Amino acid sequence: MSDKQLNLGPEALDFTLGAIWAADTNALIGVDGDLPWHIPGDFKHFKNATLGCPIIMGRGCLESLPKAPLPGRLNIVLSRTLNLSEPNLVSVPTIEAVIELLNEHFTQLKAQAGSTAEGEGAPSNPYGVDAWVIGGAQVYEAFLPLTSIVVTSQVQTAVELKPEHTRVVHAPRVDQDLSNWQVLPDLSDQEVRDPLGPWPWQVVTYGRKM
Ligand SMILES: NC(=O)c1ccc[n+]([C@@H]2O[C@H](COP(=O)([O-])OP(=O)(O)OC[C@H]3O[C@@H](n4cnc5c(N)ncnc54)[C@H](OP(=O)(O)O)[C@@H]3O)[C@@H](O)[C@H]2O)c1
Repeated sequence: MSDKQLNLGPEALDFTLGAIWAADTNALIGVDGDLPWHIPGDFKHFKNATLGCPIIMGRGCLESLPKAPLPGRLNIVLSRTLNLSEPNLVSVPTIEAVIELLNEHFTQLKAQAGSTAEGEGAPSNPYGVDAWVIGGAQVYEAFLPLTSIVVTSQVQTAVELKPEHTRVVHAPRVDQDLSNWQVLPDLSDQEVRDPLGPWPWQVVTYGRKM
């Protein structure tokens, strides 16, 4: 089955898949292979949410990381060209192979939890997410049909693009698809963070309408 024929929803998964991104007011998430901003508070928020969970990224996202793998997380890279097989960094060529790998991972985790303390292996983030899609644009788009929850950091600015910017990428517009997605107020900020800093931002979390 090719990725294009993948016709599954979140209910087909035995685990909860979330996506997490930071976007400007036009849903822009990346310019020329990098983030358009530097927001240390958002890095912390990202780390707190994803630590301990497998993370899924595309080759573009991997290449944008200053250091990989991100520690404390199983790093899964979707790529038809890479062949990575390190303890915490693996590449897989299809979406189906990512799901298979995650199923194996969680089966192992459950077996370990069964033989130790009860409840071990449950997600420790407040979003109830077991595995995270962390970008970039192609990979958010590819996994969106399987995603139950999207945690966005909404950067309160419209990044100014210049003619020399060639690779400009955007997040899926879940914020404009309110027939499928709803804001989860309990998991969203009521106020903007860092209002006087160079990049004020606000966490807004969307849950898929079932
Ligand atoms: N603001 C944020 O929160 C955020 C988060 C993450 C990344 N970003 C930004 O996003 C940009 C990178 O995004 P991007 O869209 O260019 O790249 P990407 O989605 O990270 O990676 C694209 C690559 O992933 C592989 N891929 C994608 N779909 C596939 C599929 N269905 N099957 C197999 N492989 C597949 C391909 O790799 P191969 O060519 O190797 O086959 C493809 O070239 C960077 O600017 C980065 O800074 C922003």
